[in-house]
Amino acid sequence: MTTAAAAAATATMRLPSPFKATPFRPPCHRVVLSTRGPRRAGLAVSAAAGGSPPTVLVTGAGGRTGQIVYRKLKERADQFVARGLVRTPDSKAKIDGGDDVFIGDIRDTGSIAPAIDGIDALIILTSGVPKMKPGFDPSKGGRPEFYFEEGSDPEQVDWIGQKNQIDAAKSIGVKQIVLVGSMGGTDINHPLNKLGNGNILVWKRKAEQYLADSGVPYTIIRAGGLQDKDGGVRELIVGKDDEILKTETKTVARADVAEVCIQALLFEEAKFKAFDLASKPEGEGTPTTDFKSVFAQIATRF
Ligand SMILES: NC(=O)c1ccc[n+]([C@@H]2O[C@H](COP(=O)([O-])OP(=O)(O)OC[C@H]3O[C@@H](n4cnc5c(N)ncnc54)[C@H](OP(=O)(O)O)[C@@H]3O)[C@@H](O)[C@H]2O)c1
Repeated sequence: MTTAAAAAATATMRLPSPFKATPFRPPCHRVVLSTRGPRRAGLAVSAAAGGSPPTVLVTGAGGRTGQIVYRKLKERADQFVARGLVRTPDSKAKIDGGDDVFIGDIRDTGSIAPAIDGIDALIILTSGVPKMKPGFDPSKGGRPEFYFEEGSDPEQVDWIGQKNQIDAAKSIGVKQIVLVGSMGGTDINHPLNKLGNGNILVWKRKAEQYLADSGVPYTIIRAGGLQDKDGGVRELIVGKDDEILKTETKTVARADVAEVCIQALLFEEAKFKAFDLASKPEGEGTPTTDFKSVFAQIATRF
């Protein structure tokens, strides 16, 4: 990501409206640590013939969540063969990518084919990134305005680009696709849709529906407000239909989202599921370690 894009994305996160605290309502489905069963039930995305670990491609591997997923996959070389897709050589250098990091543009099917070829599972972490219009002066108050670069609007990136990835993965017989989206998609008037007039949640939701209808085993993770904080130290909360947005706990660490992406590959219980994801504040509740029961408690297919 360029410095400007990073600044714009960070500024987006600072917008108060999308995940603003509201009066507390009855909680959604809280995930608690279960003492039952083993931590891992074995790979849902099973090893290929000959026993080699499954090959997992994460797209948007230069992004803030994608690079955590890529690093975690690399660290678990006994379980996965990691692959990344980035858009630019700069992004590849940023994550210290070797031969397992491919450069391609998700709007161009041909350019992503080499990355997709031979994979067992796909984790989609690409996203349209709004940019801040120049001239905003925080000292004068008000809110910054955003725009999407021509050809990089959510219709192109979050719909066409994600559809291209799903189609390409399906065509080679991928065993599972994990897609990270965003909470807020049930509300057409959600402030994120107005950002740069991009209707970003509308296009993301369209891609989610396309995946759910694809016949490929899938896991759709609709994250709350993303935070660059340590993972593994909070109790995760899952929910449905944006109910979490009506509570006070509507954020989640990027590192926790990344871990959930990988854990989704390990358990059959994660397949054909779509859910909202947030976490309790650090220090409240019990840090989630039993991901099998997290997935088992989710009943929603979309
Ligand atoms: N920000 C929030 O609070 C929030 C809340 C809920 C959900 N989410 C969602 O969570 C997901 C992860 O967010 P994040 O902030 O970690 O992501 P991010 O840092 O914005 O990364 C997005 C990635 O997508 C890549 N990308 C964009 N267009 C591309 C194209 N045409 N071809 C190939 N790659 C392309 C970008 O590549 P470059 O590096 O080359 O630009 C970037 O690496 C996103 O879907 C986001 O919408 C975000």
